[in-house]
Amino acid sequence: MAVNIGVLASGRGSNLQAIIDGIESGYITNAKISVVISNVKDAYALERARKHNIPAVFIDPEQYKSKVDFDHEVMKVLDAHEVELVLLAGYMKIVSPDFVRKYRWLMMNIHPALLPSFPGLNAPKQALEHGVKLSGCTVHFVTEEVDAGPIIVQAAVPVVDGDTVESLSARILQQEHKIYPMAVKLYAEGRLKVEGRRVKTLPPKK
Ligand code: GRF
Repeated sequence: MAVNIGVLASGRGSNLQAIIDGIESGYITNAKISVVISNVKDAYALERARKHNIPAVFIDPEQYKSKVDFDHEVMKVLDAHEVELVLLAGYMKIVSPDFVRKYRWLMMNIHPALLPSFPGLNAPKQALEHGVKLSGCTVHFVTEEVDAGPIIVQAAVPVVDGDTVESLSARILQQEHKIYPMAVKLYAEGRLKVEGRRVKTLPPKK
């Protein structure tokens, strides 16, 4: 049975697109995006989903009394689409502990820095201001603490003289589009094993 994926996105959805492309090209096997959910009505991610005939659902945060109630609605929609693996892809909301617990080792996020350096917002800006020579991106499992869960895949991106937040972010994004599909592929092939803080990558099954 294919792994049913639910993607949560708030913006342009280029990582969503990379995963759609990874599935359509056959790089990611045994997986299907069952639903894309956004907390932003006009998020381009929803449009991308529609273009590929993937159900696209806007859930309006203003209709819910609390973040917890909102997350319960998100979980309902994920359940309705029989989602197994949740991908946060530019999702600008912190997921509540209930939600994290339900999808323990079944929820991934992508972050534009080499975690544990520069968690939180504006990571490329933080990295530039700190003067690091090497930045990059990280796919990790989501835990209760923001940007702190076990690391699945990382890619390094050198910082060059003259880099701006825009130029560095653009080079990091190119790598994001490689490592997020890679992490999903490994999951779908049953090759990720969490041992404490470490995520082991098992060899391909024969
Ligand atoms: C990416 O930089 C990702 O690392 C961060 O948010 C951005 C989302 O971009 N979490 P997109 O919506 O996937 O294009």
